Amino acid sequence: MSLLPILRFPDPRLRKVAVAVEEIDDNIRRLARDMAETMYEAPGIGLAATQVDVHKRVVVIDPSEARDQLLTLINPEIIESDGAQIREEGCLSVPGVYDRVERAERVLVRYVDLESRVQTIEATGLLAVCLQHEIDHLQGRVFVEHLSQLKQVRIRNKLAKQARITA
Ligand code: NI
Repeated sequence: MSLLPILRFPDPRLRKVAVAVEEIDDNIRRLARDMAETMYEAPGIGLAATQVDVHKRVVVIDPSEARDQLLTLINPEIIESDGAQIREEGCLSVPGVYDRVERAERVLVRYVDLESRVQTIEATGLLAVCLQHEIDHLQGRVFVEHLSQLKQVRIRNKLAKQARITA
């Protein structure tokens, strides 16, 4: 296993739209394992392949306190959503930035698991937010793009400053 470098906003590669996985082979299984390791090490509660510069529809999520509820979703699609919730979000690609985003309260997501079985998961609350946040990444969207233009400019400036300090 290996840790993967995570792209940082506003890297233009975060805007690429991921393509569907056609076959779950050893490459996809290795990618999913490496993504899970990278997410746990960061630490974070979700990671999309887009964030590690692989533009395929693969997501890992584990919002549990015990860090023992790993979900690997291949080709996830939101097939139903309703209600609304506002929750503070962060992102491994936007370090140090947290802000409130409005999302659906409930989602039904269809995906393929690592054994190539089609599954559905119904989620509310934090898990529903995670699913929407990660599926957004696969569409080339970062959570800050849900915020006002003014906030986005501030975030870009803050991250540019951080990059200069750490460079
Ligand atoms: Ni994110």
